[in-house]
Amino acid sequence: MERTFAIIKPDAFAAGHAGKILARIYAEGFKVVGLKKLYMSKVEAEGFYAVHSERPFFAELTDFMSSGPCIVMALEAEGAILKWRDLMGATNPAEAAEGTLRKEFGSSIGENATHGSDAPETAEFELGYFFNGLELL
Ligand code: TYD
Repeated sequence: MERTFAIIKPDAFAAGHAGKILARIYAEGFKVVGLKKLYMSKVEAEGFYAVHSERPFFAELTDFMSSGPCIVMALEAEGAILKWRDLMGATNPAEAAEGTLRKEFGSSIGENATHGSDAPETAEFELGYFFNGLELL
């Protein structure tokens, strides 16, 4: 079993899509090992996305991620990292496949409804950034 880190981003949370996204998560067979609502500060968002700090969209991205509450999750499944990225779809909702979460709930490349770790090392960092060990028992 593998774990990945996922976010229902501020756009999707504010629009009231969290319930529908969670229903898809369960329907696809993920186990929700950790889940909490939080309101990221700008500094916390910058730390989370530090890998993108030199990218032109960094300021916009961290403004957006600290613009309202979100839901952070630890999801478990066989091949959870790829499985969750498949369910999310392409980064740009306009290019995401039918039936994916970003296609259904995303509105732009920046406001794209969900986040998912892209590799095992990233998942380990991201899970540890938002959850302590006791929260994921
Ligand atoms: P990235 O890691 O490339 O995508 P993904 O979330 O699919 O792993 O980018 C991280 C986030 O940065 C992405 O979800 C939305 C934002 N972003 C932009 O705002 N503009 C861009 O041009 C790109 C590539 C990403």
